[in-house]
Amino acid sequence: MFKVNEDYLKLPGSYLFSDIAKKVAAYQAANPDKSIIRLGIGDVTQPLAPAIIKRLHEAVDEMADAKTFKGYAPDLGYEFLRKAIVKNDYEKRGAEVYIDEVFVSDGAKSDSGNIQEIFDRNCRIAVCDPVYPVYVDTNVMAGRTGTYDAETGLWSDVIYMPCTEENNFAPEIPKETPDIIYLCFPNNPTGATITKSMLQDWVDYANKVKAVIIYDAAYEAYISEDDVPHSIYECEGARTCAIEIRSFSKNAGFTGTRLGFTVVPKDLKSSDGVSLNALWARRHGTKFNGAPYIIQAAGEAVYSDEGKAQTKEQIAYYMNNAKYIYNGLKEAGYTVSGGVNAPYIWLKTPDGMKSWDFFDYLLDKAQVVGTPGSGFGPSGEGYFRLTAFGSYENTVAAIERIKAI
Ligand code: MLT
Repeated sequence: MFKVNEDYLKLPGSYLFSDIAKKVAAYQAANPDKSIIRLGIGDVTQPLAPAIIKRLHEAVDEMADAKTFKGYAPDLGYEFLRKAIVKNDYEKRGAEVYIDEVFVSDGAKSDSGNIQEIFDRNCRIAVCDPVYPVYVDTNVMAGRTGTYDAETGLWSDVIYMPCTEENNFAPEIPKETPDIIYLCFPNNPTGATITKSMLQDWVDYANKVKAVIIYDAAYEAYISEDDVPHSIYECEGARTCAIEIRSFSKNAGFTGTRLGFTVVPKDLKSSDGVSLNALWARRHGTKFNGAPYIIQAAGEAVYSDEGKAQTKEQIAYYMNNAKYIYNGLKEAGYTVSGGVNAPYIWLKTPDGMKSWDFFDYLLDKAQVVGTPGSGFGPSGEGYFRLTAFGSYENTVAAIERIKAI
């Protein structure tokens, strides 16, 4: 008789965005005549840029010709893409990353969920609170988080780093010493950033206590301010303590086509001298058969001159939405942050309303969908996230509707 992995049974409810999708579907079914504007999940709405589409078509044609057909992709990803990544994302910023340290994948969500597999079950994780739920949930699945307190929403073995108005939504070095530190900047969900010197402090701390930082830089393309680092490898010493995760979803619209990568430097070793690069290569080779050739080819096109110009335009389009949401909510009297270096706006719910109550209220009164802050952790209670990834027309309509209630 089989049994299931009991750690999975510890997970409360379903995944945040699945919960939201279910609620919205139920509302739509009950109100078929209402038009709903979705600013909940951070999913892009602009079509793939022309340079990317062109390369996709070409790559599809290559698959139809025996001379250019491709089967399994190389373990780490095609070298043409890893070279483009190193040149454009790292060399350009003076960051030391080599092509055999880049692991191409089907996206940052899988990588940020899977990377914990290479660490010991007893490692203590530290997370920002609020936090992208994948980091915590996947550690729950791995049996690393202890017991859940439904009252507080906290796991007994997780070290939480509250990110609140008081600390400008920037985590502080925790009192207890973690083994694995998850950081995400620009931050999902708050849209907050930290300066290069603040990130350097984290790198210095991690090296001192021999912790590893899992740095999620999925939103780096949205950075508009000079002093905000695009990569953790801009900091001295990061090669001995940091893994970086990147996505093509947000910077180039690949949410439906799927592409991302993780950097694991060869200088990064566990306290007993095991190379994490070798371990991740072993895991990657065993469990993953590569992002499709046509998608990796399209990923390379993101780094072409046209690709860069066109994706830059898309980012500017979304950031214009962010500005519209930010200013519109401010005018309407909301307390708002984020939206400057990130496509997320983080607002305080009015009159101390609970996050999920505000979700229901907004859906019912304005047919606007956002994400309840408490879904990201206890410190998100009383907050709400709106994304700038909608169309401009929908963004304007959503703000008008919110102002009108
Ligand atoms: C979000 O809305 O937080 C993200 O889109 C989710 C994701 O990237 O998986």
